[in-house]
Order: sequence, then structure tokens, then C-alpha cells
Amino acid sequence: MVPIPGMNILLGVSGGIAAYKAADLVRRLRERGCAVRVVMTAAATAFVSPLTFQALSGHPVRTGLLDPAAEAGMDHIELARWADRVLLAPATADLIARLAAGLADDLLTTLVLATAAPLYLAPAMNQQMWRHPATQENLERLRRRGVQVLGPGVGSQACGEQGPGRMLEPAELVTTLLAADRSATKAAAGPLAGVRAMVTAGPTREPLDPVRYLGNRSSGRMGYAVAEALAGLGAAVTLISGPTALPTPTGVLRVDVETAREMHSAVLERIAGVSLFVAAAAVADYRPADPVPQKIKKVEAELVVRLVRNPDILAEVAAQPSPPFTVGFAAETDQVEDHALTKLRTKRLHMIAANRVGGAVGGFERNDNALTVLWPDGRRELPMMPKTQLARELALLIAERYVASS
Ligand code: C5P
Repeated sequence: MVPIPGMNILLGVSGGIAAYKAADLVRRLRERGCAVRVVMTAAATAFVSPLTFQALSGHPVRTGLLDPAAEAGMDHIELARWADRVLLAPATADLIARLAAGLADDLLTTLVLATAAPLYLAPAMNQQMWRHPATQENLERLRRRGVQVLGPGVGSQACGEQGPGRMLEPAELVTTLLAADRSATKAAAGPLAGVRAMVTAGPTREPLDPVRYLGNRSSGRMGYAVAEALAGLGAAVTLISGPTALPTPTGVLRVDVETAREMHSAVLERIAGVSLFVAAAAVADYRPADPVPQKIKKVEAELVVRLVRNPDILAEVAAQPSPPFTVGFAAETDQVEDHALTKLRTKRLHMIAANRVGGAVGGFERNDNALTVLWPDGRRELPMMPKTQLARELALLIAERYVASS
């Protein structure tokens, strides 16, 4: 991600346990060249000391509206004007409700009303509070006013429960914020501006013992190129990648995994709020049932390894109650189109990109490739070309179909 030097970010911290992660967020925003000023609600100061944020941001922290000493410096209206972006992280259910109601009963809510800067919020709360219709209705109102909601993630919560409501990790927040911002500014006309997309790429490695694994020939090039192309169309892209030798594409948040099961968890933890899912990874269908903790010695003349099925990540994403627009790949050695059509139907995908592998033509470990792209009532041939160009053509087609379906 290209830093945006000189961008002024007003970070609003409200009173949830995720407030401690906001400290790291300040550091990461500054690393990206942003100037950060922090405003805390009274409840937030019960979780983290303002001194922490002062040290990290390099500026005094504002906590109250009616503080004559603070108002004698940069007063709250100047602060509202200073901000290029306002980021509220963590945003509690209470803060979200107060924002939705348009209240200005403390410094933070007052600043939100007083600023013309785009507003981003990163919700963080108990999963039941997140699911509550009151919270969802409040968020809907805010979204209609143009507020961008980043996350939340799904997983284990500080309260011991499981589900949606975890604040996105600071690195993820920064990338999503800057990517969303980039799409809002530079790619405002991009067909995927503001759309959250996720791409899986690369192979998986399934351990046999601590030094050996079962793998495959996927280089990750196609998935990486698709991730970059989607970001180029304005999407905020998270790339869940198996082991590859590739650099992270510009403007993309990358999460590294090794096994199919790790890829499965990494995807499902982050899928809430994703509108476009492209599964380009060559996920191992099977893994050794009993990987051994010590290196296997060559004692026996024959070694039998029992394999068990891995979860089908793409099928699981497509089977979610309200699934994102899902795009699969089908790498086949024979009857390419028939197999791809079967996959499109059985996995209930919106689109599938099929290619022939194993011959002298495109596919794994090559720079060129050709694709037959199929969807329930249409198809398009993308002829042999370099993978980066092919990825751009495919991303455009995905965007076209995604926009047509939403
Ligand atoms: O069924 P098959 O493995 O051929 O399907 C290929 C498609 O499904 C690809 O898009 C691949 O990324 C995805 N897939 C997956 N999880 C698996 C196996 C395949 O997401 N365990």
C-alpha cells in the first residue's frame, strides 16, 4: 500500500476492551505517513490511559468538550477542520447509537457532526450486541449517510463468546481504510469502489511430519494478479495466501497461511462484510490424517499414508446464509468445460473460471494462461495471454457480473 503522506487522521477511541488495539493502530497509521490526533470518550480512558495515545501520536489527547485549557489550543472546531479522515476504532454499540441519533453529547460525537471529513468506523462489541436489530438499524442509518463500516471480524471475543463483533486487527484496519480511501479518491469511478473483496491464492502445504508436506505446483501468480486487478478497480482486497515467493500486490492486505485448514479459518474469520469472494487457491483436497511429530525414518520398505478430506472453503463460503458473489476456478486436465459447469452448479457459484492444466498449454507455474469463464446464463472466452493481463480481463468481467447481480 502506498502511504498517503500528510493525511490527517482523527482517531476516536470509545470505551471497549479493543481500545488497547487502538494504540497499535496509531503507530501503524504513523508508519504510513499519516498525522494522528486522538480523541477518547470518558469510558475509553477507563481502558487505556490518554498518556499512551499521547506518546504514540506525539500530540496531547483530547477527552472532554468543555475543557478550557484544551480549547485554548486547537479548539474542537479547528480539530474537526484539521481532519482529512475520521476513524472511530473501537466503535462501541453505544457510540454507534449516539452517532445514528446525531447526538453531540461529548467531544467525539460533536466532532463527528462538526467535520466534513469522511467517517470510518470499526465496530467492536459482544456478538449478541452486534446482532441486535437496534445496532444493525443504527449501522444501516449510518451507512446511508455515507459512513464506511470496517469489519467487524468474527471469532473468539474477550467476553469468552464466539461470533461477529471483534474489531479488525490494526494492520487490517489501516489497509482497509487506506484502500477504501484510495478507491474513494483515485478510483472513484472504479466499478468496485468501496466493495470489500477477498481472494485466496497459492498452494497449501499439508504436513506429513515436521519437515515434509504434500503440496502442489500452484505459484499463486494468477490469484495475486486477480487481487491486484480487483484493487485497481477500487475494491478493498484481502488476499489469503498459501506459501508463495511473490511480493504482496499494491493496495492489498495479505494474510499468510500454510495448510488448507488454516486457509479455511482465515477466510471464515474475515468473511463477514465481504461482497466478492474469488477462490484462486489450489487448496489440497486431502491432508495426511496423522502427521507425526518426529521426522519419519526410512526404516520400512513401504510407507502408507492415510489421507482425509479437507474442508471445501469455496463451497462453504457459497453456502453462507447471505453469501458474497463467489467466483471459483477449475483447473482440469480433461473435459474442462463439463467439469467446470458441474462445479458451478454443485458449489452454487456465481461464476467459474476454467482452464486446462497438465499439457503444454497454460496453467500452473507458467506466465501465460487462457480461461473459459462460465456463469449460470453466460460464458466468455479469455484467450491465451500473460497472467497479469488475463487477471485484469477477468477482474473486469467479475466486476461487470457483480454489478449486474447487485
Ligand atoms: O473442486 P475443486 O477443488 O476442483 O474446485 C476448485 C475451486 O474450489 C477453486 O476455486 C479452489 O480455490 C476452490 N477450493 C476451495 N477449497 C478446497 C478445494 C477447492 O476453496 N478445499
